[in-house]
Amino acid sequence: MIYVMKNPKYILIDDAVNNINQKVIVKGWVASHRAMGKICFIDLRDSTGVIQCFAIKDTLKNFDEIKKITIESVVSITGVVKQRPKEQYNQNLDTGSIEIEINEFNVLNLCKSIPMPVHTDGYEISEEVRLKYRYIDLRRSRVHNNLIVRSQFIRFLRDFLIRNKFIEIETPLLSAPTMEGARDFLVPSSMQKGKFYALPQSPQQYKQLLMCAGFYRYFQFAKCLRDENLRADRGFEFTQVDLEFSFITKEEIMQVVEALIIEVVEKLGKKIKQKPFPKFSYFEVIEKFGDDKFDLRNDQEKEEGILAFAWVEQFPFFKQVNKDDKAEIRDGKSGWTFTHNPFSMPIEEHLEWHINGINIDKIITQQYDLVCNGFEVGGGSIRAHKPEILKATYKIMGYTDQEIEQSIGHMLEALSMGAPPHGGIALGLDRLVALIQNEKSIKEVIAFPMTYTGNIAVMNAPINVDQSLLEEDLGLKVIV
Ligand code: AMO
Repeated sequence: MIYVMKNPKYILIDDAVNNINQKVIVKGWVASHRAMGKICFIDLRDSTGVIQCFAIKDTLKNFDEIKKITIESVVSITGVVKQRPKEQYNQNLDTGSIEIEINEFNVLNLCKSIPMPVHTDGYEISEEVRLKYRYIDLRRSRVHNNLIVRSQFIRFLRDFLIRNKFIEIETPLLSAPTMEGARDFLVPSSMQKGKFYALPQSPQQYKQLLMCAGFYRYFQFAKCLRDENLRADRGFEFTQVDLEFSFITKEEIMQVVEALIIEVVEKLGKKIKQKPFPKFSYFEVIEKFGDDKFDLRNDQEKEEGILAFAWVEQFPFFKQVNKDDKAEIRDGKSGWTFTHNPFSMPIEEHLEWHINGINIDKIITQQYDLVCNGFEVGGGSIRAHKPEILKATYKIMGYTDQEIEQSIGHMLEALSMGAPPHGGIALGLDRLVALIQNEKSIKEVIAFPMTYTGNIAVMNAPINVDQSLLEEDLGLKVIV
């Protein structure tokens, strides 16, 4: 409820049903407009919905102005909310049983023209136009609603997490390189010329350090930045629901995350195929589906937009380095690199192999992925909370003592000063909202996504920077 002292009061369109026979003010955009002799209809749209308004020539002073109003102009309407006769109900509108008779009409901003229609679902319009004029595109009810659902999703998640004793903590964006398997975005330092920060691929190390700091459970809606090939389910920047727990087992984490997903998804009115979520081993899914991302729905369930979650676990800790992948070659100096997360813990039975660097191909990690409708929507693990275990991981990947010290010395130090057993997970927020909203691309649920060529179309980034500024401020030279 928004309280306004004026009379008549300014209301949002979804509140009109509660104001029948009252004089109100509504403000918004002209979604459509029909002038027919002595009567003129406007469908007025605000962030909460659309309502039909009408003006009669004899009772409205500036009837001529309303007759000429253009689509997407911003207007203020004062009028009485009226019940429509039953036979005139419009089933396509939430407000279809009511309408507003206009007594006063003011133009707040006349719209000249718009680069694309906003009354359609927008799939037919080119990405270039949609993203360049994203602020127009976001008026479209489908995309507008996606962002509203995203906000509700975040609210429900936060509500569950706070109830379950998670503390929300922010971690730095300007940071050191992390290892999540992608290239880092680097930011030059002007204070220390020639040096760079890396933007975080995830808050992995910080959240582990927060466990070392004695926080029981942590969460963050974390911006992550990864310089990797763009796809419908992948952005340079994306948001994780990042969680970490102390004094916990793998099964307990999976239970909490499952309860979280079920509560939030069902609050948003979506149906889940199977509860509890089925669990598969990595080897099982590779044999059964040929991939560790798979879709358990039949055709009818796909049609109904049902969500089929499943867990995958018992992943191999290491894999042979892919010779075409620069990040893997860098991380896996011995020819072995991690499959998911270098900070993970091997299963108890394989700890000795891990410490001794034997049977490397057979070591299973305490990692779990959450899959939904063919996408990986989350991944996490129990962590190596003792320095000798983490160090062994890097030894297997072929790091020398000096390289280990340089890369994760700070983590080894933290783990040797009273680190609790801990583990966590990160859920892909954009992917989850896209699945909930039945969207094929995460761009449909992000306010200002990048184009497929990595441009922020609204702002025209990335930009060229003046060479003299680069040299003087940052000590850099562009050679391409
Ligand atoms: P991971 O790299 O698996 O784990 O990421 C977790 C989840 O984030 C989503 N995701 C993405 N979404 C959109 N665009 C991308 N480029 C992208 N990359 C990943 C996926 C994925 O499941 N630190 C670990 C988590 C942990 O162990 O706690 C991590 O980042 O849905």
